[in-house]
Amino acid sequence: MIEFIGGGTLDEASGDALVVGVAEGPAWTPGSQWAADRLAARLSDHLGAADFTGKAGQVAAVPGSDEMPFGSVVFVGLGEDADAETLRRAAGAAGVATMRSATVATTLHQADVPGAAEAVALGFLLGQYRYDDKRSEPKPSVTETLALLGAADADLEQAAAGRVIAEGVMLARDLVNTPAVDKPPVRMAEIAAEIAQRTGMGITVYDEEQCVAEGFGGLLGVNAGATNPPRMVVFEYDPPDPAAFVAVVGKGIVFDSGGLSIKPAAAMETMKTDMSGAAAVFGAMQAIAALELPVRVLGITPLTENMPGGAAVRPGDVLTARNGKTIEVLNTDAEGRLVLADGLSLAAEAEPDMIVDLATLTGACMVALGDKIAGLFGQGDAPDVVAAAAEEAGERVWRLPIPADYRSKIDSDVADMKNTGPRYGGAINAALLLQEFVGDASWAHLDIAGPARASEPEHYVQKGGTGFGVRTLVALARRLAGSGTAT
Ligand code: BES
Ligand code: MN
Ligand code: ZN
Repeated sequence: MIEFIGGGTLDEASGDALVVGVAEGPAWTPGSQWAADRLAARLSDHLGAADFTGKAGQVAAVPGSDEMPFGSVVFVGLGEDADAETLRRAAGAAGVATMRSATVATTLHQADVPGAAEAVALGFLLGQYRYDDKRSEPKPSVTETLALLGAADADLEQAAAGRVIAEGVMLARDLVNTPAVDKPPVRMAEIAAEIAQRTGMGITVYDEEQCVAEGFGGLLGVNAGATNPPRMVVFEYDPPDPAAFVAVVGKGIVFDSGGLSIKPAAAMETMKTDMSGAAAVFGAMQAIAALELPVRVLGITPLTENMPGGAAVRPGDVLTARNGKTIEVLNTDAEGRLVLADGLSLAAEAEPDMIVDLATLTGACMVALGDKIAGLFGQGDAPDVVAAAAEEAGERVWRLPIPADYRSKIDSDVADMKNTGPRYGGAINAALLLQEFVGDASWAHLDIAGPARASEPEHYVQKGGTGFGVRTLVALARRLAGSGTAT
């Protein structure tokens, strides 16, 4: 585990690598000025060869010199006007560049940005994250220490909070990246119980029989074609004197084959990631409890595979969800909304101040917003509060509408609603169905089909599961607790 340590001034420090920020120009910061002075003439050769101008996202590693007590200096671009997300990204790129350095020192946290030390710690850890569980020869980071030069106690406290959040994100990434065969609902529920035990949270796990007794007809309908039984997991973090009460619900389809409305092979390749909403709930619950935020949080994750076995739900079948509403299943590949119907009903029954759900729900949302931005829907104050939390956390969301006059598009000939609508507005059709299960609660729905998974690495993101949503949920809990960021 990488240890964050304080450290004296640049003149006293040494190590395998030094990470310094450079503003657009390049314009030196105090840290990069120090390094530039000591690298002298060789610097312009290296930076010139790398076309390094200090643009946000640029990285140039320059070997040290006799006058330089570091094996290399990693210059990272901060662009024109650095904010917390700039620092997370810069630290992430630096983390990638220093995977083979045991001792790393940095001045990045000295930037004049609120929460800078938290952002640097978080970005660095996420940058060095790798999913190596299935490799015969894993090559983990060798970094042992990150020295935050000149850090005050408050900076180290921030860095510790950054680590807690990063661990929540990495837990979510690990779960998303795990092959479906290794994460059946029963195993997911065991992991949930371990998290609850470790952090002192409450947890209730409903097995198949209890799902029947509780009326989780959506979850059971989706599970009908699978051999592995379903689970409904409900975490409860209930601190003394909570400032607010929020319920978070995450789609937990551990594999989405499409069911009888089976997906083409290529579309199935990434469908082990269809539990990214649940993974975000797991990671956020862990982080919120570890940070001891004074907000009561209910974390609800319906967990099942969507498989086309002989007992599978058929197009035309009608399911009855937890709140008594009936859904005609016309396309078994629109399964996320079916399991969320039960999860959201359960959330609404608890009468929280706010419900937030996260789901890799529709390809249509990716058509609308691309693969880096989540769709944000909802009613009441929740969408605005979630948008502000996401902005603060550095996760990108974009508001989309739920027009009341579109509701007729999911009218069924036989039931209260059908689970598909016309091709156009597919993400809205899904949100319209979810809305039937939240009553009049303040509610935000995040369609994370795009950003839950990255097809290319960049800054603190690696290819594969991103853990999207964990940071927004933590920032949301902080907001509701009235504490804002760590600064
Ligand atoms: N899990 C998928 C959505 C998805 C697609 C997530 C691609 C990530 C990447 C969801 O269950 C699904 O299959 N949705 C269908 C809905 C349709 C049948 C109404 C879709 O988007 O095609
Ligand atoms: Mn599907
Ligand atoms: Zn799905």
